[in-house]
Amino acid sequence: MAFGWIDEQAELRRRAGLVRTLRPRPADSPLLDLAGNDYLGLARHPEVAEAAARAARTWGGGATGSRLVTGSTELHQELERELAGFCGFEAALVFSSGYAANLAAVTALAPHGSLIVSDAGNHASLIDGCRLARGTTQVVAHADPDAVRKALGAHDGPAIAVSDTVFSVDGDAAPLAALAGACRRHGAGLVVDDAHGLGVLGDGGRGAPHAAGPAGADDVVVTVTLSKSLGSQGGAVLGPARVIDHMVNAARTFIFDTGLAPAAAGAALAALRILRREPERAARVRAVASALHARLTAAGLAAVRPDAAVVSVRAPSPEGAVRWAADCRAAGLSVGCFRPPSVPDGVSRLRLTARADLSGEQIERAVQVIGETRP
Ligand SMILES: Cc1ncc(COP(=O)(O)O)c(C=O)c1O
Repeated sequence: MAFGWIDEQAELRRRAGLVRTLRPRPADSPLLDLAGNDYLGLARHPEVAEAAARAARTWGGGATGSRLVTGSTELHQELERELAGFCGFEAALVFSSGYAANLAAVTALAPHGSLIVSDAGNHASLIDGCRLARGTTQVVAHADPDAVRKALGAHDGPAIAVSDTVFSVDGDAAPLAALAGACRRHGAGLVVDDAHGLGVLGDGGRGAPHAAGPAGADDVVVTVTLSKSLGSQGGAVLGPARVIDHMVNAARTFIFDTGLAPAAAGAALAALRILRREPERAARVRAVASALHARLTAAGLAAVRPDAAVVSVRAPSPEGAVRWAADCRAAGLSVGCFRPPSVPDGVSRLRLTARADLSGEQIERAVQVIGETRP
């Protein structure tokens, strides 16, 4: 029977406690949200929502075509200019998602004969970029600049090192300055995904590369998503103008994809302007993450010290993690739940995300619920 193997896979997943289900949320959910990625609380900010609506009225519901045909509006250009300027890069290129931006950055910068040195903890979109690229991928130990140095030193020809700036599972930061140094020494490019750093780390939320120093260097390329701190949708690649020109001409997820919807571009631009006006939002989300970690640790839970907004709490098993998250939900708290295959080390976790707009009382309530529902 066609697709018969799907049933076998579904049964294996069920037995391993790894079945995933969709849970559509109502607009007025009563749950306290520590699962979403709206780090700065901007997704529903009136200025952001109004900018999305205005952009849709002005430009339409969709971009109408790929960026190279009809899908580039003046709004996209404005967003690219402001995003690059804010993060300290010469140029930026907006994509329909952060996923597409990562596929573009890795595939377009790793031609035949090149080496890609990829951190073992990288996000799935960087991994998929490596899988699609023509170059050869060498996976190295997590957050290990020496391993990167060694791999680059053993290769003759074009090379890039690829890493998240903040890893999505445990919320730990990459050793960016050391990685940039290793790449420079070997004439390699550094490609980093700042999905969890933009809006959270660096001066006023300018991102991890800005904080660590390599932002704007001619051998550094950064990808971001517009869907977390900026409360919108879409992604971007930031870097030297010649790299961005290369993306326009060579990145297949740019060339063969409809441009980002104007509403999303408008919302992201409005959020960026709010962040520039209210830089304290970045400091606040970091403080909330630290407070969550401190309170969870004091309650005897195995929480990982956060370098940005993601706070990870170890769970005993995939089934235990699912039950824990479900019990939290029943008690009014929405938390993320990471299980294999989303976790490279096989350890299941609750994944909490700090938000700049969480009150002290909400933090206390969240910690109390997580402690009381602990398996
Ligand atoms: C580290 C990282 N990179 C890239 C992405 C993909 O971004 P987007 O959701 O905009 O496709 C995500 C998650 O969404 C992420 O966590």
